[in-house]
Amino acid sequence: MKLLVTGGAGFIGSNFILYWLKKYPQDKIINLDKLTYAGNLENLVNSEKNPNYSFVQGDICNLQLVNQLTSNIDTIVHFAAESHVDRSILDPAPFIKTNIEGTYILLESALKNKVARFHHISTDEVFGALPLDSSDKFNEDTKYDPRSPYSASKASSDHLVRAYATTYNLPTTISNCSNNFGPYQFPEKLISLAISNILEGMKVPVYGDGLYVRDWLYVEDHCEALDLILHKGKVGETYFVGGLNEDIPNKEVIRRILKMMGKDESHLQFVKDRPGHDRKYAIDWSKMKRDLGWKPRHSFDEALEKTIDWYRKNQDWWKRIKSGEYKKYYKTQYG
Ligand code: NAD
Ligand code: DAU
Repeated sequence: MKLLVTGGAGFIGSNFILYWLKKYPQDKIINLDKLTYAGNLENLVNSEKNPNYSFVQGDICNLQLVNQLTSNIDTIVHFAAESHVDRSILDPAPFIKTNIEGTYILLESALKNKVARFHHISTDEVFGALPLDSSDKFNEDTKYDPRSPYSASKASSDHLVRAYATTYNLPTTISNCSNNFGPYQFPEKLISLAISNILEGMKVPVYGDGLYVRDWLYVEDHCEALDLILHKGKVGETYFVGGLNEDIPNKEVIRRILKMMGKDESHLQFVKDRPGHDRKYAIDWSKMKRDLGWKPRHSFDEALEKTIDWYRKNQDWWKRIKSGEYKKYYKTQYG
């Protein structure tokens, strides 16, 4: 395969590139990334010399550049996005631009250059929120109900991908996944923020009552799901990828991390809630199991241990991030 990976310097994108180059050394990957605050080429330093890997710094909204890159590949794996809900609440503009217009530009280019597959990475957040006491899960029939600027922009991009598949027969697949965690996650998301704060001796901010529930997915399990979708998935289909079979409230997630790191609960700090905070996400990934034989390999606790270990061993990586522009963001967000 010759892949154009967008957003490959970000958290999931870089994990995907590292996974793919190891498993399919004969494949070629072009990584197109704008290097926003979330992009970090350090994640891929071990791939720099690989002749089958190349990096292009650029914007997915640049049609000319995207056309040039797309003319020479067969598969697009589209990760590039503004991805953090809290930042979308502070300033929605880049979310609208990258997530909607950027996806449109990629679709236009994929069509023009007749790519064999356009795979779009989306999120379970486009389906809104489940009540805490419900045992329902999002499935392929759940209707869209995005509630933040981030999820609304991702929902728009999903609709555009389906429109190009229906109207122009573009060979697309979509995956909607739950909350990823693992190595190389920018320390603004709950788990990466919690572990790095604890390592620095800081408290962990918990929004509202801390009873919000997410469906946690280890990033390596996500990469395996994408591998199966790209190799065995059916064009035109949507696949749901999730990690958990139990509800674990945020407060409990942090308690587990504290326990694993040998700290007590005095490190929990309840702070002002996120506006429009979605109560619960839960994803039914039975189609991935039934059709593609996928299931997450890691239990939540195993994956947490691995993640804590990675952040312990790679303190330079996150300390460099936390010493820059991040400080200003942290002050705006948490006071
Ligand atoms: P991330 O924020 O870590 O990385 C995003 C990457 O995209 C960065 O490298 C950034 O530089 C790049 N980028 C942003 N705007 C760009 C532009 N205009 N042109 C080119 N590159 C640009 O994000 P992530 O957590 O790795 O998420 C990747 C994808 O997965 C996103 O589409 C996100 O919506 C989706 N997703 C993420 C999660 C999660 O838990 N992290 C869950 C579900 C879906
Ligand atoms: O569900 C998939 C989505 O997961 C992805 O589409 C997004 O790109 C990704 O950012 C993530 O969104 P969330 O808003 O769920 O993730 P976040 O890590 O920001 O928050 C997880 C939960 O933890 C949520 O209930 C809010 C809460 N939280 C978060 C932060 C950053 C806190 O209590 N305190 C915090 O400091």
